[in-house]
Amino acid sequence: MKIPHNKPSIDDNEIEALKEVIESGWIVQGEKVKDFENQMCNYIGLKKGFGVALSNGTSALYLALKILGINSQLDEVLVPNYVCSAVLNAIFMNNATPVVVDVDEVDFNIKFEKIKEKINNKTKVIIIPHTFGIPADVISIKELGIPIIEDCAQALGSKINDKHVGLFGDIAIFSFYATKLITTGQGGMIISTNSEFVDNARDYREYDMRKDYYPRFNFQMTDIQAAMGIVQLKKFNNLLEKRKKIAYKYIEICEEKNWDYQKAKYSNFTQNWFRFVLKQERDFILKLKNKLNEIGVNCVIPIENWQLLSEYLKMNTTDFKISQKITETTLSLPIFPDLIDNTDFELILEFLRGI
Ligand SMILES: Cc1ncc(COP(=O)(O)O)c(C=O)c1O
Repeated sequence: MKIPHNKPSIDDNEIEALKEVIESGWIVQGEKVKDFENQMCNYIGLKKGFGVALSNGTSALYLALKILGINSQLDEVLVPNYVCSAVLNAIFMNNATPVVVDVDEVDFNIKFEKIKEKINNKTKVIIIPHTFGIPADVISIKELGIPIIEDCAQALGSKINDKHVGLFGDIAIFSFYATKLITTGQGGMIISTNSEFVDNARDYREYDMRKDYYPRFNFQMTDIQAAMGIVQLKKFNNLLEKRKKIAYKYIEICEEKNWDYQKAKYSNFTQNWFRFVLKQERDFILKLKNKLNEIGVNCVIPIENWQLLSEYLKMNTTDFKISQKITETTLSLPIFPDLIDNTDFELILEFLRGI
């Protein structure tokens, strides 16, 4: 494909930073990891020391549940149906029971009214992903009094009332996988304002150099990865601006054409434009996807029907009408920071205008 759907923004600065770490001889978790953790805290608006860098977003989710005491089938964890299966894996790996909830038709986030229907005395945690970077209404959900894990894997830079997502729940997790907002290749992080949770995450993260014994993990990030993360974070505001410019170009066309797309539900919710997802009839989506592919533009169905948690778990489809419909009526257009400087971007826009 001439134009990918997504691409990390990596330049000579990352290469220089990696070279420096490799030449230093200290390549495992060390000062760079600590530095990256603190710079993430600073960016989000947390005190130093309240971030724990990890090997990936999945290990962060797994640890977050463990820290909240989830460890038995009697523990129910609410999750949206329309989400990456990493979330489901983290629940099962803690021996808990997932309770799958349908999502909202406008922002694709876990639906508040449906959460209320599913809560009972076994409900221990609600995992709230901010889907494709659009903030979920974590403030209202928090009022239900159940511990919350915010899944910010796709939501670095998104805000509610000018406050970063990740600061609303009891624990938040991030992913720095190659396709995410900033990348360290693979990588993840837990943040929390609760120092006990942070200390627990740090304690479980590595097993070495401890006098006491209990089973611990090796979920560490390396200094090589962290050095890359530091560079990525430095330029992140600029990357966000570029994403926004691309999205606004797409919006112009959607407004002209009367095409619907995934949107935030409230004006005080600021999204990071991780994705731009069109919402149209199935036939239109499939035709558009084929035509864009033909001219060398890669666009994807962001979550296919078979990837819904209810499909993996062979649940009754009638309970998940909205997420079913979303999988059948959505198409994610290319959006990555460098696209704005790419002359081929105009090709996509012209093509869309001409339909
Ligand atoms: C919403 C969400 N949560 C968690 C993860 C897991 O992150 P990772 O791939 O770093 O394990 C992903 C994956 O990409 C994700 O999209």
